[in-house]
Amino acid sequence: MRIYREKDYNAMSRRAAAVIAAQVVSKPDCVLGLATGSTPVGAYKQLVEWYKQGDLSFAEVRSVNLDEYVGLAPDHDQSYRYFMQTNLFDHVDIRPENTNVPSGLAPDAREECARYEQTVQELGYADLQLLGLGRNGHIGFNEPCDEFPVATHLVDLTESTIEANARFFASAGDVPRQALTMGIGTIMKARKILVVASGADKADAVAKAFFGPITPDMPASILQLHPDVTLVADESALSHVVEAEKR
Ligand code: F6R
Repeated sequence: MRIYREKDYNAMSRRAAAVIAAQVVSKPDCVLGLATGSTPVGAYKQLVEWYKQGDLSFAEVRSVNLDEYVGLAPDHDQSYRYFMQTNLFDHVDIRPENTNVPSGLAPDAREECARYEQTVQELGYADLQLLGLGRNGHIGFNEPCDEFPVATHLVDLTESTIEANARFFASAGDVPRQALTMGIGTIMKARKILVVASGADKADAVAKAFFGPITPDMPASILQLHPDVTLVADESALSHVVEAEKR
């Protein structure tokens, strides 16, 4: 695993954007696996800037996103499709038909999971999969559990996730109860993985995921078995790693 230790969120974002840009430049028709959440926002901003300066093109890129809430329309401002449109897709030259996010409105969510897994498989899986890290070590919506889920699947959100998300919705009752997410197997089939982490509240998860035991109780720990992982993190997110490395 390669670790980039950056001084703060901005430096972390630029470094992560550089890793993504290097992928796009070296293989213009690559499959990018993308993530939502607050951590990658700065990296997406940097990619948009490089595109606007004429240094980068997404014209041939295909993308697959990790996850989506069940029940949210693509234009709902909390849907992950909306996040991708507003943070990246609307500002660069990626073709709309080349972007893939699971549909939150599919009448049969399990069928949609199977369809989505097949789409990712037909694209040959991601050349580079970007991942944020949950404080409990989740990746995508793969929460701590008893075994690593393999393929794209439907998850019931935990009460704590629902509570944490409630601030983004008019009321707690509006928070989606389920989500569709790539499985750990889908993620692990990516040729390269880029994990981004920022802030002291991720320090514990970073140390446990990359230096602790491999267990489905810490889903990101499976990444220790992947042959090509890059972790781009700021100093606060890496603050528990020094001690973990000594153990
Ligand atoms: C996003 C996703 C999540 C986030 C994770 C970290 O598509 O699947 O696993 O990456 O919850 O979120 P932030 O970056 O908001 O801390």
